[in-house]
Amino acid sequence: MNEPVLQLTNIYKKIKGKDILRDVNLSVYPSEIFGFLGANGAGKTTTIRIIAGLIKPDLGKVTIGGFSLDSDFVRAMSQVGCIIESPDMYKFLTGMENLQQLAAMSSRITQDRIDEVVELVGLQHRIEDKVDTYSLGMKQRLGIAQAIMGRPRLLILDEPANGLDPAGIAELRQLIRRLAYDEGMAVFVSSHILAEVQQICDTVAIISRGVILNTLKVKEIGKDVMVEWQVDKPSLAMELLKERWDIAAEQTGKNRVRAVIERVMAEDINQAFIAEGIRLAYCEAHGGTLEDLFLNLTGGDEIV
Ligand SMILES: Nc1ncnc2c1ncn2[C@@H]1O[C@H](COP(=O)(O)OP(=O)(O)OP(=O)(O)O)[C@@H](O)[C@H]1O
Ligand SMILES: [Mg+2]
Repeated sequence: MNEPVLQLTNIYKKIKGKDILRDVNLSVYPSEIFGFLGANGAGKTTTIRIIAGLIKPDLGKVTIGGFSLDSDFVRAMSQVGCIIESPDMYKFLTGMENLQQLAAMSSRITQDRIDEVVELVGLQHRIEDKVDTYSLGMKQRLGIAQAIMGRPRLLILDEPANGLDPAGIAELRQLIRRLAYDEGMAVFVSSHILAEVQQICDTVAIISRGVILNTLKVKEIGKDVMVEWQVDKPSLAMELLKERWDIAAEQTGKNRVRAVIERVMAEDINQAFIAEGIRLAYCEAHGGTLEDLFLNLTGGDEIV
């Protein structure tokens, strides 16, 4: 497998005597969209501030593109494009002037590259307008253009969907996909919106009160579901599940049987029940969404 672009190893951080991050470990690979999901106050922005070199962890190691943030700060940071909370820009200049201003600080960024990123973020029709005439979504795109001008291998976005309307969110999603899948960037995106993470990310780490509870592939979510059947012969149904699929079911009511199964098997099982003369009144599936998983893991996190 590829080397990770971003790696956090055993990160600890206390702020004002309070544990804010505890033993945070994660790896993000090229072309991967990595979601960092947690409730308000979970520690997302603190983690991002550490990755961006704005604050130091008390313990642990951050490497970016193989360079240690601690011992090779400049080389590590040269691979990062980052927007934390809201991007900085001059409102009285046009979008293009803002990008040129920033490009002037780096010898590597040519006008061609600026034009390319403007196209990439879809701002070509408004780029000559002053930033104070931009909508939030346009500012967001200009921020992303600023962050990717230097061709970073890692792009970090802290809650980029905040404040955008549904159309804006859909466009942002497309843009992030383009950056990851066409440009090969590793994209680290934090969010407290479950559906958003499920739709856009390849991998999600769930953080709660400064601890990563689970890291999983989004496409693996929903493979297993809990199914409840209402049948006239519950014992026979349970026997069949055990014998044919080695599934341990439990009886939860006079005519109710419950088991955790792979979602794709539900149809076969229902057909087998009927073929064996079991009358099936209904079949209900619970769980199998990122939301169920999140609520199960965090116990329905509150803001702390
Ligand atoms: N400078 C600070 N002083 C005191 N507490 C802080 C400071 N920075 C962060 N914290 C605390 O650390 C915890 C994590 O904050 P952080 O901003 O990382 O959360 P978050 O996951 O980004 O939340 P949100 O979704 O609200 O942006 C919170 O309890 C916050 O109050
Ligand atoms: Mg935050």
